[in-house]
Amino acid sequence: MTELERKQDRAPVPSEWTYASAPEARDLVTLQDRYGHYVGGEWLEARETYTTISPATEEPLAEVGQATPEEVQAAVDAAREAYANGWSDVSPSERAKYLFRIARILQERSREFAVLESLNGGKPIKESRDVDLPLSAAHFFYYAGWADKLEYAFPNRKPRPIGVAGQIIPWNFPLLMLAWKIAPALAAGNTVVLKPAETTPLSALLFCDVLRQAELPPGVVNIVTGDGRTGAEIVKSDGVDKVAFTGSTDVGKAIQRELAGTGKKLTLELGGKAANIIFDDAALDQAVEGIINGIYFNQGHVCCAGSRLLVQESIYEPVVEKLKRRLTTLRVGDPLDKNTGVGAINSKQQLDKIQELVASGAEEGAEIYQPPCRLPEQGYWFAPTVFTNVAQSYRIAQEEIFGPVLSILTFRTPDEAVEKANNTPYGLSAGVWTEKGSRILWMAERLRAGVVWANTYNRFDPSSPFGGYKESGFGREGGRHGLEPYLDLT
Ligand code: NAI
Ligand code: MG
Repeated sequence: MTELERKQDRAPVPSEWTYASAPEARDLVTLQDRYGHYVGGEWLEARETYTTISPATEEPLAEVGQATPEEVQAAVDAAREAYANGWSDVSPSERAKYLFRIARILQERSREFAVLESLNGGKPIKESRDVDLPLSAAHFFYYAGWADKLEYAFPNRKPRPIGVAGQIIPWNFPLLMLAWKIAPALAAGNTVVLKPAETTPLSALLFCDVLRQAELPPGVVNIVTGDGRTGAEIVKSDGVDKVAFTGSTDVGKAIQRELAGTGKKLTLELGGKAANIIFDDAALDQAVEGIINGIYFNQGHVCCAGSRLLVQESIYEPVVEKLKRRLTTLRVGDPLDKNTGVGAINSKQQLDKIQELVASGAEEGAEIYQPPCRLPEQGYWFAPTVFTNVAQSYRIAQEEIFGPVLSILTFRTPDEAVEKANNTPYGLSAGVWTEKGSRILWMAERLRAGVVWANTYNRFDPSSPFGGYKESGFGREGGRHGLEPYLDLT
């Protein structure tokens, strides 16, 4: 043992250190007891409702609507009317003005939105504040810039809007996914019916107040809440010309079947099982931070999460050791505490799924490691988890867990890394860590993934297209590419 190792050996486990709590002010958010559906610029009283909760405490937050087929139809009618009676004729620079307003209002109200996002979804306030909110505003700013330049985006074409976009989003990045969907749709001149996920409706409902402040004409954006039944109604509505979906691969496939032959446009952003690949020449401490960010960011509820770690055999031991040590410093707990690094699991349903897959990993023969940490009694929690001794055939190496669970595999050569990384039905993202620029390019060419990060992970920018191959879906969001699904270019 070296002197340093002896010292580290005696060091207290960091998770046992006590920290003063640093809670963000919850009263920045004023909740209503009950919310309706936002249709034609007005609140429509919901006929049926359910209770939305905080996953960190299971405390009820508000009653929200479970939209019926008639309510969905009302929203689609409002979107059709707004499209026909003006929005499609609004001059592109006017459209840009609304988008710029929305972006600025989101910036002004970002603290309020960040608190609400963490309260309803369970993600750490540090992330809602520093990632979700700035990126949501940036997305509106970015597409505001394109609204009056569509003919430059697609030279020698006559870009025209499509009509009404039906948009269904998941619960892992509620406001950010709303921004990814609504900003390009409006920039291209369409109107929208959007449904947030059933566990995280509140930021989309607060966003309706942003639309009101921005004086967006009534009916241009309509928001209905509810579960998959409401989503299915949007998909099959005759008044919808284009469907954009982000969520599970199973639902994505069902939607594709439903729409086959209808002529409606479709984009699907589905799951992933990304490989984060560490070569022996990589800067190890940075790579370890990238691994942590890749899988524990947002409790691993990330479609592009680096959930399979591929480590070159010669550095397997130091990487695993550094990683385990770093895990003991992750703080799991109250999402509204500014020091929290890992928040609550979004729902009971998701927690059950994570627990089931983790149990399968242990059963199939993988070795599990979890740092010592005390999980709160109430709410839905799962300790950051690492699996070693994982074979490619194990379910934890094949299936999307969508939780804070990392499966570690090894490789010897770059060819083997590529083969293992691509050995998945998905193809959304990948990470490569190496000092060699030529190797980065060599790998990026061979990885069947929509996004390949090099010496970083989970980086997003509105100007960069994002989307998948294979069972991760099709179509791109972000960048100039992200306009295409919302335009008729023929
Ligand atoms: P989900 O696909 O059921 O839900 C996503 C959205 O689709 C929600 O708004 C939901 O209400 C809606 N939806 C559900 N059924 C629908 C239908 N038949 N027609 C139209 N819309 C429908 O995902 P769920 O059940 O919440 O999560 C299951 C798994 O899916 C997760 O464990 C994760 O592996 C994956 N997932 C992937 C996401 C991604 O970003 N790629 C996001 C959410 C979940
Ligand atoms: Mg589902």
